Amino acid sequence: MNKKWVQISILILGITIIVIGLVGLYNNRNVEQSETINQSINQDVIGSKDVTMLPIPALLEDENDDENIADFSLVVQQGKTNFLGDVLTPTLGYNGNFLGPVIKVKRGEIVNMHVRNKLSDSTSVHWHGLEVSGPDDGGPHQVIDQGTLWEPSFIIDQQASTLWFHPHVIGTTSIQVYYGLAGLIIVEDEFSDALNIPKDYGVNDIPLIIQDRSFNNDGSFNYTTNMMNGVIGDTILVNGAITPTLNVNQINMRFRIVNGSNARNFNLELSDQKEFSQIASDGGFLEKPYVENALFISPGERAEIIVDFSRYEEGDVINLQSGNELIMTFVVGGKSKDLTEIPDVLVKIEAIDESKATSIKTIELDGMGHMVSLNGRKFDMNRIDDNVELNAIEIWEITTNSTMMGRMGHPFHIHGTQFQILSRNGNEPGDNEKGFKDTVFVGPDETVRIIVQFKNKGVFMYHCHILEHEEAGMMGQLEVK
Ligand code: C2O
Ligand code: CU
Ligand code: CU
Repeated sequence: MNKKWVQISILILGITIIVIGLVGLYNNRNVEQSETINQSINQDVIGSKDVTMLPIPALLEDENDDENIADFSLVVQQGKTNFLGDVLTPTLGYNGNFLGPVIKVKRGEIVNMHVRNKLSDSTSVHWHGLEVSGPDDGGPHQVIDQGTLWEPSFIIDQQASTLWFHPHVIGTTSIQVYYGLAGLIIVEDEFSDALNIPKDYGVNDIPLIIQDRSFNNDGSFNYTTNMMNGVIGDTILVNGAITPTLNVNQINMRFRIVNGSNARNFNLELSDQKEFSQIASDGGFLEKPYVENALFISPGERAEIIVDFSRYEEGDVINLQSGNELIMTFVVGGKSKDLTEIPDVLVKIEAIDESKATSIKTIELDGMGHMVSLNGRKFDMNRIDDNVELNAIEIWEITTNSTMMGRMGHPFHIHGTQFQILSRNGNEPGDNEKGFKDTVFVGPDETVRIIVQFKNKGVFMYHCHILEHEEAGMMGQLEVK
């Protein structure tokens, strides 16, 4: 009797082990298969095994079942990341080791954020480009002390766009961003839904967070202030991988590009100088695609482009570069059915009415390195520089002055609103600058006139998005009442 039971038990145990083994094998095989497909293309074409594939940040899970309400959790944490192969780099990330997930929301949605700070330092999470009230903006006044939870709530009320989030605490913004704190926000609306553009996230709709970094021999980041122009690195990361590769089929591919560098401008072009279509700037779609063969993008700015890979042959290798510097590589695969298009018209943009402007303000961006100022002074957390009435429309004339130290441009950013560019040095802006913007590059000795409406109450920052300049005081704050 006993013996029989022992035999049956052994039999059941055996079958269980075999079943578990088979399931494991099957799953593994699937993973390996997709990895081999990626690698075989690279090895054939590039002949190297040391290719880093472009990481695609995960979409953050919405924890709320209600279609009109979203709950998102972010944990700000320390980690270690393998960029270099043989050593680990101490890094910071949201819900991971480096960078963060993509938060996808839709216009009209109520969003509740739950941000837990597990760093050994305070932080804040600023939603760059999001039109929300001051207390929800995540600027220097919304410090999240270590170990605590910050839970802002807001309604998404702006057009489809690619925004981003990053820390904004006084004194540690630049270093926290450098160590990895940055993530993307994708806003969708009825227009982005209706357009027949590539919009399958991770498939033909790909984020590219471009950053420059430097490393020490032990693998740690080398955050050294060449304080003149801010911190410039010698190594390019895209989505947290060094000059990675993406395999693409012969289809339209949409890229949501963020310049997440602390200080560096990029002038992005394809290695064959072929054209691509810019479809969006910081605040959403342009009226129509802008065909260009170079895209200038300064820190904080975003642009969406569509590259038509159907003009290439299988096996072609195309680099994305900035000047002589490699950013990343595209390896072209086979033909594949593509139902997307680059439409002639994207959206209708209402020009903000200049005659409704109630004041004209001047912003002077001066200096370099630590010697920077905005309108002749440095940032003071306890000083409100401008008072603005709710819904007021204003014209701002932003200028950069050359100093004895030379001349340089500054990417100028305003929180909590999307503005329009009226002119650049007295000339009409280019067609790719006629959409909504929250950050505009003001070149050396340039004057850029913008028109802006303040539709949200509270205290908001405006500053140079070279993070070292911001830290050194090239920032002011306005209060909308
Ligand atoms: Cu991207 Cu004040 O921020
Ligand atoms: Cu911002
Ligand atoms: Cu600056």
